[in-house]
Amino acid sequence: MRWHPHLWHPTTQVATSPEPFQVKRARGCVLELSDGRRLIDAISSWWVTLHGHGEPAIAAAIGRQALELEQVIFANFSHEPAEQLATRLAALTGLERLFFSDNGSTAVEVALKIAWQWWRNQGSERRQLIAFEGAYHGDTFGAMALGDRSIFTAPYDTLLFDVARIPWPHTHWGDTDVEQREAQALHALEQAVATPTAAVILEPLIQGASGMHMVRPAFLRAVQQRVRASGALLIADEVMTGFGRTGALFASQRAGIQPDLIALSKGLTGGFLPMGATLASERLYQGFISQEPAHTFFHGHSFTANPLGCAAALASLDLLQHNPERYQQFESRHTPLLEELAGHPLVKRVRCLGTVAAFELDAGSTSYLNPIGKQLQRHCLEQGVYLRPLGNVVYLLPPLGISEAQLQQCYAAIHTALMALQR
Ligand SMILES: Cc1ncc(COP(=O)(O)O)c(C=O)c1O
Repeated sequence: MRWHPHLWHPTTQVATSPEPFQVKRARGCVLELSDGRRLIDAISSWWVTLHGHGEPAIAAAIGRQALELEQVIFANFSHEPAEQLATRLAALTGLERLFFSDNGSTAVEVALKIAWQWWRNQGSERRQLIAFEGAYHGDTFGAMALGDRSIFTAPYDTLLFDVARIPWPHTHWGDTDVEQREAQALHALEQAVATPTAAVILEPLIQGASGMHMVRPAFLRAVQQRVRASGALLIADEVMTGFGRTGALFASQRAGIQPDLIALSKGLTGGFLPMGATLASERLYQGFISQEPAHTFFHGHSFTANPLGCAAALASLDLLQHNPERYQQFESRHTPLLEELAGHPLVKRVRCLGTVAAFELDAGSTSYLNPIGKQLQRHCLEQGVYLRPLGNVVYLLPPLGISEAQLQQCYAAIHTALMALQR
């Protein structure tokens, strides 16, 4: 095997990374490699594979749709799959208007642009945006600017607009001073919103890319209360947390908040096709209806509302809604297995919410570049389990359809890897 002469892989340093695995086929939670090896996909292929790979109902829905209408320009045209999906997501989120794009970053860009222009359309001078420490909202420029500065953004930092940044008081099992950190964060937020603010963006309940950093629902309700009091808009980036990942259909629901805008992607199509969706309240939508052409939302992507993606999303929603216990009860599957790990001397700051279980390897540095995660990854791969730690943060985020035996295999692989690391 060698690196392909014509490909460029994402977030990959070729000089120091092992070559990619050649994958031939995937079914359920298992990736089948061309050399015959089988790996459990314990992170749902970057958090997108919601039910499992090759889910037959979604594959069939895409096939049927492809024979009817594969794509059409979405300015001047509408179609049934988009209308059905918008109607269903509006009912599920309480946000009446859906704007389509292509991925998580663009779903966030759209939310940001709607929020920003909505104030401009009203002649408002609100110019501040607020985001949280550790936030990750995507790799396009607006999304990068909203995200915290990191090795990912460093080359572009001078091009990124400023946002006010508030601490994210993430917690874990046995945390003793979370109330104090929450109070400090809320105080910082109160001070920040004293400046006229257009919007506040957050990843509800779990910041994903910064290391599965979980906050308590009550903190988010307190944030919402301060945001509402200031008149700013609240944007929930549910690109990772949407579609059952936190044990409720949406993390906003589990947290008890009602944002003005929600960005969705990843699990939207069950992980089959790239698609983003930004849901907005009717109040925001009405702010763009005007005889004044400049009040139009001038944003659009070639593949807006791609019918195949819509058909996949509808089939995925059917699966979710017919089997709610699959996501509602996932946390109770993780918990006993995670409790066994929690006693290991290398395991620190254990946390779990819905389908997401995480802990930190006690390795000094918490940097994304900390090599200990890669070492653990190698040991797990030898045991047929694919993980992708974030620095020293190890997490499991498996497809909902993972069997009990497969889940136990993931935890057993981590146990064995921890023993090897301890030697
Ligand atoms: C919370 C959140 N927002 C946005 C994104 C960006 O999504 P995409 O990679 O599809 O552009 C991600 C990706 O991991 C994410 O976790």
